[in-house]
Amino acid sequence: METVKNESNKHIRECPKGLIFGSDMDNESIEFTKTNLRNLPFGENIELNVSPFQELPKIENRVIVCNPPYGVRMMESSIKGLYNDLGDFLKQNCPHSEAYILFGKPELIPELRLRVHWKKTLMNGDIETKLAKVILR
Ligand SMILES: C[S@@+](CC[C@H](N)C(=O)[O-])C[C@H]1O[C@@H](n2cnc3c(N)ncnc32)[C@H](O)[C@@H]1O
Repeated sequence: METVKNESNKHIRECPKGLIFGSDMDNESIEFTKTNLRNLPFGENIELNVSPFQELPKIENRVIVCNPPYGVRMMESSIKGLYNDLGDFLKQNCPHSEAYILFGKPELIPELRLRVHWKKTLMNGDIETKLAKVILR
């Protein structure tokens, strides 16, 4: 394990400001992320914003990684609406980007209303999730 870690650390490259940014509508989630980033090289170069994704500016020609709510605590109708909104946002505001979206409930994938390029099973802790790739035009 230590050997793998040391070998991987040799390949760490500089992450310039402006390359990676992240957002969440929940301030506490952003504060947790800031704490985690303090332990990473170049973590201070990652910009974070408290914002609903629906209000983010246009994201063009980027790689988007998204871990939306799994719908455990949300009403059936609001979780579907959230995935409809996410699909609309990606289609209308993220041209020439590719998005990797983690689904706690694979049955929500059609709620994006976008063509899914591929999906793969991924364990997130002990939760079996699906990672779906969407290519935006
Ligand atoms: C499954 S948690 C993921 C938390 C964290 N981003 C991660 O990847 O570990 C889902 C997150 O989606 C956020 N969220 C829910 N609706 C949102 C929206 N409309 N815009 C932005 N974030 C939202 C919640 O605040 C929550 O932190």
